[in-house]
Formats: sequence, structure tokens, C-alpha cells
Amino acid sequence: MAKKPWGGRFGAETNKLVEEFTASIAFDKRLAPYDIRGSIAHARMLGKTGIISQEEAELIIRGLQEIAREIEEGRFEWRPELEDVHMNIEAALREKIGPVAGKLHTARSRNDQVATDVRLFLRDVTEEALARFRKLRKALVEKARENLSVIMPGFTHLQHAQPVLFAHHLMAYYEMFRRDTQRFRAVRKEINVCPLGSAALAGTPFPIDREMVASELGFEAVSRNSMDAVSDRDFMLSFLAAAATTFAHLSRLMEEIILWMSPEFSFIDLPDELCTGSSIMPQKKNPDVAELIRGKTGRVFGNLLTLLTVLKGLPLTYNRDLQEDKEPLFDTCDTLLAALELTTLLVEGIRVKAERLRAACEEGHLTATDLADYLVLKGLPFRDAHHVVGRIVAYCEEKGRRLWELSLEELRQFSPLIEEDVFEWLTLEGSVSRRKVKGGTAPERVEEAILEAERELSLEGEEGGEDD
Ligand code: ARG
Repeated sequence: MAKKPWGGRFGAETNKLVEEFTASIAFDKRLAPYDIRGSIAHARMLGKTGIISQEEAELIIRGLQEIAREIEEGRFEWRPELEDVHMNIEAALREKIGPVAGKLHTARSRNDQVATDVRLFLRDVTEEALARFRKLRKALVEKARENLSVIMPGFTHLQHAQPVLFAHHLMAYYEMFRRDTQRFRAVRKEINVCPLGSAALAGTPFPIDREMVASELGFEAVSRNSMDAVSDRDFMLSFLAAAATTFAHLSRLMEEIILWMSPEFSFIDLPDELCTGSSIMPQKKNPDVAELIRGKTGRVFGNLLTLLTVLKGLPLTYNRDLQEDKEPLFDTCDTLLAALELTTLLVEGIRVKAERLRAACEEGHLTATDLADYLVLKGLPFRDAHHVVGRIVAYCEEKGRRLWELSLEELRQFSPLIEEDVFEWLTLEGSVSRRKVKGGTAPERVEEAILEAERELSLEGEEGGEDD
């Protein structure tokens, strides 16, 4: 059995079950590249400040670089009895360069080390997520522009409400993902603080240069309180909460895609390569990807609650409970990145059945509010106008007619205020184009929204998604 780095005070070998139960190597080995980057920065600083000699620092750095290559090429042998990624790498370094490897851990603890590793890891994931959000938003904008003239029924309570542009509906999701983008940018800022130098909990007596390490690792700041720094997982909570909000949005979009693809709606179709079939019903083409993204929302919400529960009631400072932060975090990272990429494919793949959307607008007296607004312009208070139009709708239902099919005489039975000019108020195009209010569904407003979004996206492209 490998000698434990912490084995000095122990008189007996660790119980096998304890060893298995406490090991995290199976999941934390993915932190290895970040662990090594952090260690290299730390070693360089130890050499520069004279805490170890320059030669020792260089030896350590070269050894770590070799280990990084071995891990990358799959040649590294992970040993579960060495518990975690940090001790595996340290033990390998010792085998490579001898006892000088033991100097790397000067002025450092695994507590500030793991907090650093996971921040570096999550910063990369957040950057990748931001790039994927941008692609998704771009896909939404392109699909909106492609379908700028398509009118559909807008819904409330899943009942036909008022006509809207299909593009306006898509751009509503653009807004959600834009807010998500802003949220993840804020999370990136929160992540980007360097805890290294806090050591176990109280700081270190060695004259380390924390700013040097932080700047080498691209951190914007160093943590302000060593006890907080080793036990703080708020940045993870923020990430998990932001991801949960994103999944609330994704699952709403998926629900609509699933509904729209059903024959009852038949508003859209998706390409074959994004759908799957049934093993028994040969005719089936199912939106499984959308269903799975909707379904995976469960684990993403759950992961947030897992970490909240792990953190609740933890006394300062580091407690081994904190090792339980990683699996939920990694799971949400993987699920989020995959879902963003697949949602982009789904949005790009949407084929809008414009004639079906139009036909759906025939049902549900979609321009009833327009008729009420018309009466208001003729001088009737809105509540009275609402009542008059309600009676007209009841008449239509009884006769099996549509609002815009009634004759002027029929309409005038309900109000003498109605005149020949009413009919332009009853068309779908008229209804949509009158909603010129900022944020409304009039074609020129929606086109403006699309232009604004295109401008935002191209600015972000140039800046690489800077903080707001
Ligand atoms: N594997 C541990 C974790 O993920 C690393 C830190 C261990 N620190 C300790 N004092 N046992 O949290």
C-alpha cells in the first residue's frame, strides 16, 4: 500500500472501507489540469520569493509538466488508495523528482488547493457556456428573421389569445437567454477570485506573493479572509442557481417544441437527424432530445438543492462534507453544456409550417380584443366594449361563424357605433401591425428587436463576451 502523505501520526493502515468511502479520485481526476496549473504557479512563486530555491522550483515545474503530458495522453496511473487528485499528482511528482517534490506543498494546504482548482475549472466551463449561449441566441435570431412575416396564435392559459408574430415568440426566448448570459457573466466574476495562500484556514507564516500567483492564474482578485476562502462555495451555488434558471427556460422551450411537433398543433417539424424512432411503432418520429432536455431539468434543479443542503449548517472552516460539492457541480456543467449545444441544433432545425400557423389563427376569435379597442376609439368605455364584444363572440359561437365573417348589419345589432371601417380591425395583419408599442408584436418592432439582438451578438463576438 502507498504511504499516505498524511500518514505520520497514524499507527495502523486505513480500513479498506474507509479508504473507498473517502476517495474522490474517481470524479476529481478531471481537475488534474487545473491542479497542475495551480501547482506550477505556486512553485514558481515559491522560487521567486526564495522560500525554495530557483532550481528546486524549476525541477518541480518540469516534473509537473511531464505529469500533465502523461495525464493528457492517458499514460498516468491513478491510484485510488491515494484518495484524491492532489495526492495522486504529488506522489507521482515524488517518484519523478525525489524528495524535493515534498517542498511543493510549502505554504499550501489541500483546502486552498481544491478551492483554487475548482474555481479554475468552473471559470473554463462558464466561458464555454457563454460561448454556447451566444450560439443559441444567434440561432433564435436567425430563425426569427427567417420567419418575420409568419403570424401565429399567441396563447395564454394554452388557449388562443391574440395573433402574434412567430418571430416575436422566438425573440421572447432570446430575452431569457440574454438574461442568462448576464447572469453567467456575473458568476464568472464571482468565480474569479484566488483563494490560494489561505493555506489550511489561517493563512501561512511564509512570505508568499499571493498577487503573483493570482495574476499568473488569471484571477482578478485574491480572497480577503482565509477562513472564508477555504470554506466558501457560494460561487458554485451561483453557478448552479444560474444553470437551474437556464433549465427553467430550456424546459419551457422544449415543452413548446414538443407540443408544436404533435399532430394536434403541427406548427413545426424537426429534421430526422434530430429525432428518434420507436422500437415497436414504425411510423413514429419522436422529439426525444427535447424531452430529455426537459427531463434533465430535474437533475439540474436537484444539484442546486444538493449543494445547498451540503453547505447548510457547516461550521467554519473546511469540512470533508465539501468534497460532496463536486459530483453535482460536474453533472450540471456537463448537462448544461450539452443542452445548450443541442438546443441550438433544435432551433436551427425548426421548419415552420406557416400555413398551419395561419390556419390555427382562424380558431378562437383572436381579434376580439381589437374589436373592443375599436369601440373604445369610438367612445365606449373599455369595460362596456368588452361586454359588447363578449356578446358578439357568443353569437359567433352559436352560429358557428368567425368574427370577421359577420356582416356590418349583424355587427351593428350589438352596437350602433360599429361602422364600415371595422373590418380592418378584424384582420390578423391589422391586429399585429397595430401593436406598435415598444416591446409589442408589430412587424417593425420585432424587426427592431432582431436588429438590436444582432448588434448585441456582433459586439459580444468582438469583445469575447466581456463583463457588463
Ligand atoms: N478531496 C478533498 C475535497 O474535495 C480535497 C481537500 C481535502 N482536505 C482535507 N483536509 N482532507 O474537498
